[in-house]
Amino acid sequence: MPEPSYDYENVLVEISDGIAWVALNRPEKRNAMSPSLNEDMRDALIAVEGDDRAQVLVLTGVGEAFSAGMDLQEYFRDVDKAHPSVQIRVRRVNAEWQWRHLQDYSKPTIAMVNGWCFGGAFVPLVSCDLAIAAEDAVFGLSEINWGIPPGSVVSRALAETVPSRDALYYIMTGRTFDGRTAESMRLVNSAVPRAQLREAVTELADDLKEKNAAVMRAAKIGFRKSRLMPWELADDYLYAKLEQSQFLDRENGRKAGLEQFLDEKSFRPGLGAYDRDTDTVES
Ligand code: COA
Repeated sequence: MPEPSYDYENVLVEISDGIAWVALNRPEKRNAMSPSLNEDMRDALIAVEGDDRAQVLVLTGVGEAFSAGMDLQEYFRDVDKAHPSVQIRVRRVNAEWQWRHLQDYSKPTIAMVNGWCFGGAFVPLVSCDLAIAAEDAVFGLSEINWGIPPGSVVSRALAETVPSRDALYYIMTGRTFDGRTAESMRLVNSAVPRAQLREAVTELADDLKEKNAAVMRAAKIGFRKSRLMPWELADDYLYAKLEQSQFLDRENGRKAGLEQFLDEKSFRPGLGAYDRDTDTVES
């Protein structure tokens, strides 16, 4: 298949060393998400998913913002005036990339929160598998201050990650919080000094891209979907997922892993390789 050209007006895609850096690219509007940006993002996610050069996707923003949320002019005011069929299409494309596609993505995804993160931006943030923020990134659910409750599935996304006390506090006050607070309430995995953000994300992505791709997909999708199931269904579904991953895994990682541990004694997941003759462990 020919390599995608990644030529978008509102999204910048760079693939380097197995990592697709996908950046919302409207820095002059703080990466506010307009209908045309949403179309570009939907297309970019589909293209990266089919691009063998990328094993991990990082979602971020160009300039000083991750995203200032939905575009108040182009997504709200302009679309309010449009025909209902246009409104339906605009909402559908928005949902397609911000949560449907990201939550079902076959490759690992990391949100790199480089700056402002408001309102609607919480949806793709939470829909990425993992997230690392700059300590001084500023988050906010500002909706209460300009006359609407959090829209789209923002509240649902919060409930997925953040304790109710924190979620309601920020939904009800509209106050902002920084990356460190986002880490403490588990909205992101970690917060690091801004100067180390890209390095921290690269280190995590490098770790993920070494894993077996078929098993990675089964593991992360299995976790997301089984959470909503009763135990009986989850048991059957997760065994089916396991068997699916074995069927799709061309590297036959399970067999190799068992051989390394049981026969060769060359690897223990908790400790690395073990040399019984010298009684040493290599990490
Ligand atoms: N929708 C549309 N335009 C937006 C926007 C949004 N959500 N957020 C920022 N912009 C635009 C501004 O209107 C401004 O456009 P202009 O230059 O044509 O006037 C431009 O982006 C820069 O914004 P500005 O406010 O000057 O930048 P700043 O760095 O001083 O502040 C923010 C950045 C993010 C703190 C501020 O823009 C803001 O509060 N935005 C709204 C965030 C929000 O409530 N989002 C929820 C939407 S669901």
